[in-house]
Amino acid sequence: MQRRKFLQKSSLSTAAVLSSSILSTCKNEKAKAAAPLVANAIKPIVIATWNVPNATTKAWQVLEKGGNALDAVEAGVKVEEADVDNQSVGKGGRPDREGHVTLDACIMDQHGNCGAVVYLKNITHAVSVARKVMEDTPHVMLAGEGAEQFADEKGFEKETLLTEKSRMEWLEWKKESKYEPVINIENHDTIGMLAIDAQGDICGACTTSGMAYKMAGRVGDSPIVGSGLFIDNEIGGATATGQGEEVVKTVGSFLVVELMRQGRSPQSACEEAVNRIVKGNPNFKDIQVGYIAINKNGQTGGYCIHPGFSYRVYSEYGHENIESNSYL
Ligand code: GLY
Repeated sequence: MQRRKFLQKSSLSTAAVLSSSILSTCKNEKAKAAAPLVANAIKPIVIATWNVPNATTKAWQVLEKGGNALDAVEAGVKVEEADVDNQSVGKGGRPDREGHVTLDACIMDQHGNCGAVVYLKNITHAVSVARKVMEDTPHVMLAGEGAEQFADEKGFEKETLLTEKSRMEWLEWKKESKYEPVINIENHDTIGMLAIDAQGDICGACTTSGMAYKMAGRVGDSPIVGSGLFIDNEIGGATATGQGEEVVKTVGSFLVVELMRQGRSPQSACEEAVNRIVKGNPNFKDIQVGYIAINKNGQTGGYCIHPGFSYRVYSEYGHENIESNSYL
């Protein structure tokens, strides 16, 4: 019930603000002609995969000061990248089978510009390197050594990303070296974040250390624009968490946005994107994938395969963690 109420509030916020804006505007005859210009009705909002209050609060602080959505999502996800207790993102992330922490991230702005890094070592803030790729190069994606060299040139600090805790867990894992993606215990705790700013512009970011104990060189969905993240400023945005291979196969985030373009709500679009993964896949019970989405009106939605995925929304109504509906 609480969830439904919140979603209703999110979806009604634009309409409510719109009518109050028009009402106050119409008190003044001169301003009446401006009533159809609804830009002022737009209210900032941020949504992120998982229960990440520190990240969404940071993003919200940018938005409420009038900052733009791009700065908000970058600042928001950086909180998780720096949090060594989050072992799926940034510093402290779980390593690959060889004991190397490698990061994947991307960022996308309201103009359709995007930047990404894959297999990045020794730099905590992969999302900021991705943003530099977007802003300072003619390219969209840099990988591995080239990405690290670029980050170095841009003045990013080199750090050891493998913490003692993650190292000890990896050593324990190596005793059996059994590779089984584990559902819902932080193994795919990728953070994807979408925000709308006061100008009504939508931007997004997605960052991860990827699947724990992955094969060396493995890259997931998170840095792949269209899979782990997609933004269309006319329509909305979507981002994914979970087993990236399945998201890549279905170009999940692009699919969610295109479904919204066809008139689906963010909730319905996320459900259909999960259905595409489940359909015809006999192993779907071994997979977790979660999507979140936002449309141009600030309506939000989320859906996943297994119960246990939640997402966080911060808007003028405050912040709330929402337990996602699931296929199973
Ligand atoms: N969704 C993160 C990954 O699969 O790497």
